Amino acid sequence: MREHDEGRSGPAHGLTRRRVLGIGGALGLVAATGLSTAAALARRPSITGAELRSAVPLPPPFQVPLPIPPVLKPVSTEGGTDRYEITQREASAEILPGVRTPLWTYEGTFPGPTIESRRGRPVTVTHRNELPVPTVVHLHGGRTPAASDGYPTDLVLPEDWHDTTTHTGHGSEHGMHDPRAVVTELTRDYTFPLDQRPTLLWYHDHRMDFTAPAIWRGLAGLHIVRDDTEDALGLPAGPRELPLMIADRAFAADGSLAYPALDPTLRERPGVHEPHFAGVLGDVILVNGAPWPVHEVDTARYRLRILNASNARHYELEAVTDDGRRLDLVQVGADQGLLAAPITHQALPIAPAERYDVIIDFSGLPVGSRVGLVNRLGSGRTRDVMAFRIARHATDDSRVPRTLSTDLPTWRRTDAVSVRDFSFRAGRMRGGHGWLVGGLPFDPARTDVTTRLGDVEVWRLVADVHHPIHLHLVGFLVLSRSGRPPLPHDAGLKDTISLRPGEAAEIITRFDGYRGRYLFHCHNAEHEDMAMMANVEII
Ligand code: C2O
Ligand code: CU
Ligand code: CU
Repeated sequence: MREHDEGRSGPAHGLTRRRVLGIGGALGLVAATGLSTAAALARRPSITGAELRSAVPLPPPFQVPLPIPPVLKPVSTEGGTDRYEITQREASAEILPGVRTPLWTYEGTFPGPTIESRRGRPVTVTHRNELPVPTVVHLHGGRTPAASDGYPTDLVLPEDWHDTTTHTGHGSEHGMHDPRAVVTELTRDYTFPLDQRPTLLWYHDHRMDFTAPAIWRGLAGLHIVRDDTEDALGLPAGPRELPLMIADRAFAADGSLAYPALDPTLRERPGVHEPHFAGVLGDVILVNGAPWPVHEVDTARYRLRILNASNARHYELEAVTDDGRRLDLVQVGADQGLLAAPITHQALPIAPAERYDVIIDFSGLPVGSRVGLVNRLGSGRTRDVMAFRIARHATDDSRVPRTLSTDLPTWRRTDAVSVRDFSFRAGRMRGGHGWLVGGLPFDPARTDVTTRLGDVEVWRLVADVHHPIHLHLVGFLVLSRSGRPPLPHDAGLKDTISLRPGEAAEIITRFDGYRGRYLFHCHNAEHEDMAMMANVEII
């Protein structure tokens, strides 16, 4: 980005020579990284972080029933808006059998309560912060006005918060200041128009420098958007539609969640201890907050709405029967809603913050048998994710139509008025280790990209190691990976793309919806906290 062509220069159509050269620059970067090094890195999934070891005994897998997060009831549905209230507070839960674990929660549970919405019907959520630190709520994947998008310095301060560093929006110890921060005390109303394709969104904390530990402690929940068109498809529904929030955690001897924070109070000093600069991994796999759970199913199709809410762990999911047969994972949707047509996978890679909407068919399997959801990238206990136990015969009138949606964007390269390059690489900041976008650490006061509302742009993203890159506000299409066509799981409209080591991917998007300041960043939460974020100003 800063290497060349930062702004919108040149004519509105066709690429200037400078921009074309810019693409060459990105390729040069990959060459410099060394593709063989990249290939070697790609074979080492551990590169996404260092694993913590739990200090309490862990339960055997497939004992705890899969919890389904409660659906939150609106406090009012008057005036065409659904209004909700969520209190962020400390709570404790029995995540491991017989062990109490203190958590930071939305409404007392982890995951937080699920919000169910209809497309185009606005939702207002009043968040009340009763936690001991400032918080920020972001609806990931939401097409949200900037004022409600949860910018990291738009803090909601807890009662009696006297830390002067946060009144400037950012720890002044780093000499940063965000004049545009909108800080509130105790509560804040977030408004979500939800004028967008139906899909699985999630809300999570986004506080400057402290997002990773806040999510780790429990500040994450689901938000599902639906519409009549999707409802009419006949996909598996009701008890046969299962949201699955997958997240790894580790437990300290006292039952609390272990996390290598430099400042365990999460009040002042951000960051993690050195071995975890690349990311924090746990040795326990939770689904909807339960360790290696089991769910009883009918001999029928199920719709799994999978979210990887882990800070840094990548998964490659497979569904394996008792006799070692792999079941098809029929993908019907991506981060930003339905695909044009279903795509059948044998294994599905899922990076932090990505979502996949998948149909799995348990019909024909013997009652009493089990199907394991397995992570091919895990080892030992982290290979298992959860299991489905075939409990009963049942009829199934669900369908998986050959055409799922006809409203996907059709942007082409020739529509793009700008082509920009961004590198995502390790580097130095604040005199220590950081993760940088275009060679720079995040600065809320710096505008990295200025774009015009409605403009189509092609972005070329280049990575050193694994980086799941997320854009706020917009969905995008993947055009290429390392000069080759996208992978099968890149289909559909995405808001997070998993860059593999040494990879250069091209995405295309249209910056529409709202003007204002938005983020794009790596969703490895530790990388994000270590400055791998940048600003887009939509004018
Ligand atoms: Cu999941 Cu910036 O967000
Ligand atoms: Cu987001
Ligand atoms: Cu990253």
